[in-house]
Amino acid sequence: MAGPVDSYAVMGNPVGHSKSPRIHTLFAEATEQRLRYTTIEVELDGFTQAVNAFFDNGDLGLSVTVPFKEQAWQMAEVRTDRAEKAGAANTLWQDNEGRLHCDNTDGLGLVADLSHQNVSITGKRVLILGAGGAARGVLEPILAEHPVELVIANRTVSKAEVLAELFPGQPISACGFQNVEGAFDLIINATAASLKGELPPLPEHIIKDQTCCYDMMYSAEETVFNRWSREQGVGQVLDGLGMLIEQAAGQFAIWRGIRPQTRDVLALLRNELV
Ligand code: ATR
Repeated sequence: MAGPVDSYAVMGNPVGHSKSPRIHTLFAEATEQRLRYTTIEVELDGFTQAVNAFFDNGDLGLSVTVPFKEQAWQMAEVRTDRAEKAGAANTLWQDNEGRLHCDNTDGLGLVADLSHQNVSITGKRVLILGAGGAARGVLEPILAEHPVELVIANRTVSKAEVLAELFPGQPISACGFQNVEGAFDLIINATAASLKGELPPLPEHIIKDQTCCYDMMYSAEETVFNRWSREQGVGQVLDGLGMLIEQAAGQFAIWRGIRPQTRDVLALLRNELV
């Protein structure tokens, strides 16, 4: 007789439009894993309580999204190295002793997506726009690919400087948008500007023919940043849907010990974007 179904969920606020249940259910089908994955909308002051109740109930793993990633990181007793540097966690689970573990799979999701799209980081000049949680979450995995240089540009320069200082001895630096020097092989938009349909004030010289521009946001309509990039004539323009699916694959691998294929899931979700 089959036992209780292994249970997972995503917690956030809001969380109603999360694609995580769809993605993890597709992964489970493809890998023949029996599990349930739901959404839990958590009150803004109720995250700790909700997490404790979830695991007390015998449920197995949580995805964490806005605005609880920092709280998830704080709650965890054990953090992976990349989560430690990210200062935020998107994945929670418990070990056999009941200790709460966290990871942040956003950066590996970005790196995996870039790799699948044949975009190399190694030896390249990389520019990250933004210095919030989204940018911080991907710095360590990008540096692990050994870019020749990683520049963080932000509206508030001091926030970019704080992030760069987290990686002493690494080829990382910080500046304002107008002070970015030279052209880049890869430009990643990690600002929240796309959400508001805005574009950071970027100098045109950061682009060259072969530049790849990557917006961590995605939508059915091209983002403002990606439209601007295309108009500048860049070599490749990508959005964050692949990153979303790859970060979920990283979570699935942590929870289930099996890494799902992502290509078909990406094609399916691309078709479902409205
Ligand atoms: P997230 O967790 O998504 O990174 P966040 O921590 O609020 O969210 O960070 C938002 C980032 O987008 C910041 O880098 C912010 O710049 P500031 O640090 O100067 O606030 C950036 N951002 C938001 N709106 C922007 C806009 N219209 N133009 C440029 N940058 C913007």
